[in-house]
Amino acid sequence: MKLDGVPHRSIARTADGAGVRILDQRRLPWEVVWVELRSAEACATAISEMWTRGAPLLAMTGAYGLAMALAEDGADAALERAHAVLLATRPTAINLRWALDRVREHVLPLPPETRGAAAFARADALCDEDVALNRAIGAHGLALFRDLHAKNPGRPLNILTHCNAGWLATVDYGTALAPIYLAHDEGLPVHVWVDETRPRNQGALTAFELASHGVPHQLIADNAGGLLMQRGEVDLVIVGTDRVTANGDVCNKIGTYLKALAAHDNGVPFYVALPYTTIDRTIESGDQVPIEERAADEVTWLTGPDAAGTLRHVRVTASPAHNPAFDIAPARLVTGYITERGVLERP
Ligand code: MRU
Repeated sequence: MKLDGVPHRSIARTADGAGVRILDQRRLPWEVVWVELRSAEACATAISEMWTRGAPLLAMTGAYGLAMALAEDGADAALERAHAVLLATRPTAINLRWALDRVREHVLPLPPETRGAAAFARADALCDEDVALNRAIGAHGLALFRDLHAKNPGRPLNILTHCNAGWLATVDYGTALAPIYLAHDEGLPVHVWVDETRPRNQGALTAFELASHGVPHQLIADNAGGLLMQRGEVDLVIVGTDRVTANGDVCNKIGTYLKALAAHDNGVPFYVALPYTTIDRTIESGDQVPIEERAADEVTWLTGPDAAGTLRHVRVTASPAHNPAFDIAPARLVTGYITERGVLERP
């Protein structure tokens, strides 16, 4: 991805190699602010408070956090403590556990004094792998998009997406947005309906990404998708995911299930883009996935800049609120899984 014409990854080591720099996504799309994280505790805070987010990216932040803990103290006890603290930050995305376990298994056979450097190198490799996986997902998704566009060549391919599964949610490219970028780059006409994705407004992040890349798009209220599908204005739905269970159930941002239902009812294909790191074979079905409960404040307050550009927080109700952050789209509603190995009927 490029910001102001300069290539960046969403997470990268600081110049001295001892920390990482990430975008503070709480301030996007209004302000582009890079922050440095230099301890496991800072990484844990950045994940739980959603400075950084998206299943693959928060996993990489966790991997580097573990490396930072090991650089301070390479003992087994420190390793286990940091692993537990980082794992406890967010419960739903399986990628976090996957990445922490990869770093731990890599360093456990090593002498404690070498573990910090080895863990950083392993986290670097996981990031490189994430980029390669996303590129492959993009290529397979692009082939699918070409076929779908050929059915209606006289108009742009209308794609609906929910939440943000672009480069802001990964190290680069994204999962669900990767084929959209490739399609746009090769001249395949695409237009993206972007669900706003209340309460955290990840749709604004997706819109920010698409605007930066010049991809035609429109933000829509979360409840608009059903009508657009009934009117034939959606050719496919594509989303990312935080965890796919052994039977193919898809856990993703709250509201994904309703989009999958509406797509099914209207004969619109519903695709999920994911790398293998998002598959949890230890869980049979979606009802066993822990669904993160986030603060009620996220529902009852709105945040945004006023006319002068100052960020304001506005309370919309004094009523209590309930804020489950993810839901489950059952496998029966999924047309296909776009993976690094191709488009599969079951992952
Ligand atoms: O709560 P978030 O913003 O971390 O949720 C992100 C999502 O639900 C994404 O769609 C998912 O992580 C896939 S990102 C490639």
